[in-house]
Amino acid sequence: MATDYKRYTITSALPYANGPVHIGHLAGVYLPADIYVRYLRSQERDVKFVCGSDEHGVPITIRAKKEGITPQQAVDKYHELIRNTFADFNISFDIYSRTSSKTHYETASDFFLKLYNDGKFIEQTTQQYYDEKAQQFLADRYIVGTCPKCGNENAYGDQCESCGTSLNATDLINPKSTLSGLKPVLCETKHWYLPLNEYEGWLREWIVEGHKQDWKSNVYGQCKSWIDQGLQPRAVTRDLDWGVPVPLKEAEGKVLYVWFDAPIGYISATKDLTPEWEKYWKDPETKLVHFIGKDNIVFHCIIFPAMLKAHGDYVLPDNVPANEFLNLEGDKISTSRNWAVWLHEYLQDFPGKADVLRYVLCANAPETKDNDFTWKDFQARNNNELLAILGNFINRAVVLTHKYYEGVVPARGELTDYDKEVLGVLQNFPMVISTYLERYRFRDALSELMNLARVGNKYLADTEPWKLIKTDPERVKTILNIALQISGSLNILMEPFLPDSAVRLAIMLERPFGKWAEAGAPDLLPAGHILGKPELLFDKVEDAAVEAQVQKLLDTKKANVLANAVAAPAKENIAFEDFSKIDIRIGTIIAAEKVAKTKKLLKLTVDTGIDQRTVVSGIAEYYAPEAIIGQQVSILVNLAPREIKGITSQGMILMAENADGSLAFVQPSKAVVNGGGVS
Ligand code: MF3
Ligand code: ZN
Repeated sequence: MATDYKRYTITSALPYANGPVHIGHLAGVYLPADIYVRYLRSQERDVKFVCGSDEHGVPITIRAKKEGITPQQAVDKYHELIRNTFADFNISFDIYSRTSSKTHYETASDFFLKLYNDGKFIEQTTQQYYDEKAQQFLADRYIVGTCPKCGNENAYGDQCESCGTSLNATDLINPKSTLSGLKPVLCETKHWYLPLNEYEGWLREWIVEGHKQDWKSNVYGQCKSWIDQGLQPRAVTRDLDWGVPVPLKEAEGKVLYVWFDAPIGYISATKDLTPEWEKYWKDPETKLVHFIGKDNIVFHCIIFPAMLKAHGDYVLPDNVPANEFLNLEGDKISTSRNWAVWLHEYLQDFPGKADVLRYVLCANAPETKDNDFTWKDFQARNNNELLAILGNFINRAVVLTHKYYEGVVPARGELTDYDKEVLGVLQNFPMVISTYLERYRFRDALSELMNLARVGNKYLADTEPWKLIKTDPERVKTILNIALQISGSLNILMEPFLPDSAVRLAIMLERPFGKWAEAGAPDLLPAGHILGKPELLFDKVEDAAVEAQVQKLLDTKKANVLANAVAAPAKENIAFEDFSKIDIRIGTIIAAEKVAKTKKLLKLTVDTGIDQRTVVSGIAEYYAPEAIIGQQVSILVNLAPREIKGITSQGMILMAENADGSLAFVQPSKAVVNGGGVS
């Protein structure tokens, strides 16, 4: 196992402070990083876990503009929200910093200057896209077009999020300004480039030859294909007014490219954390690991390492365990379409249940492929796994000990073969779980944790202490002692995954849960130790709770359909004579009932002023019969009668159709006498 490092620097991607964080962020980046860090701490390794808000770049200025606030106001607002949300989910950063900090401005400028002075950049004056209407160069997300690689029509000027390719704006086919929607023109401007092509040989050796075995295959594969395609110089400066100013006289009005400054934010955050920050970045005995989502791979595996290499003083990442994406109920998570489970909203709806979401997102983490989050799965995993397996086992062990021994851990007597086997299995679990965690296989690690709880459940189910207590009370002491040893180990091993529940269990066992090295021991809870009060670790997630969440998503879908509705083009012109053949009147519904054996049809009786007639109308999904009696509607009275489900329908009620297909009566805005004509 890789314990040959003296210390660990663990980073998780700095989230853009341009919106709240959602389950995709947690599942892909922050949760695995936090599990890993908590595990390392439990192993008593020297670890720093750093993160912060990414506050520069076009994503921020676009958001600010949308909300009608300044970029600074936008990052202040979202930095605060994101930081609190992470704290609520027990993401145990040693520091959560931000790239608008003074330390960061200095660190990023110094980094740039060092590379500049060492002659690591090339200066180039090139033609760049410019929006004449907005009078602005179009960098990064200010420009969209078709990706030359995969054909995605919404690729950004610096990256296609569909295939992950890193792009230059001039690579885009059919470029369009996102500011004005216009086709941009080319204008001359000077920038500084990192000549990635010069690092190609080194990158190949470092990644393709050095990390083929230990990097995840999705990460390795992406890197190899970029290197194989040949790397190009990349501009590290931009013509924008939001960012870290380029620290050169001749570069007035230019800022560092956000993907140049943001990863340096990991270093600045460490500086803010400890005066010993250099150890965590420069000593080769430090293991640097970047937790990210797959859209960040190129920046963390190619560009940032090339920057670090060019600088010369820094260690390189030992691993970059990037995850794939999490979808939501079959659809890609999207901030702009509001298709997400926002973490701060989750906690409003499920207070105190941060661990449940942590559990579900880890059990279903998109480690090797994109995965889907569904509320049904959320409920099932809570009820059938957390509650039925882990919670149930602990509860039985603790409650029975209270019932039979007043909460005092009983001493073990002579051991049966089964007892010995269970204690042996228990002893192996910490190693098995460790091995998975060291390899960033968090799902497997969690599933082994649950397997230990299953071993405990099976042991109790097989030995049935609740029956034996009448016939062989001595034996029950041994059984409960063993069950409590398993509970104690579970407490240690679950902490990285379920930190809140681990604290509550420690209170129940009246024992600080201790360090990883103690897990698996047969005497974690010595005979005579007094337990705390039993308490349920998990409770049931009811149908109504998940149904409400599903409804919320359906409402979002509906709102999106309406927001994106485009009116159908007008039909061909007609002559007035044609129109005047149509006889529309105002009438009042005087009776209404469902048409038997149909879902959509209502049989209406309408007082048209001319007569009282029957009309069959396909509105049952939108109106309850009893609710529409007395309403005035528009009715086409000279439509030839038609037979519908054995009923003669005389005329047609006029309905307005919404973009989602739903129907509404066309009604007069004031009461009108029945029979009044509509023209
Ligand atoms: N803000 C970026 C994103 O959300 C991640 C930045 S990671 C860092 O995709 F390395 F730049 F910090
Ligand atoms: Zn693409």
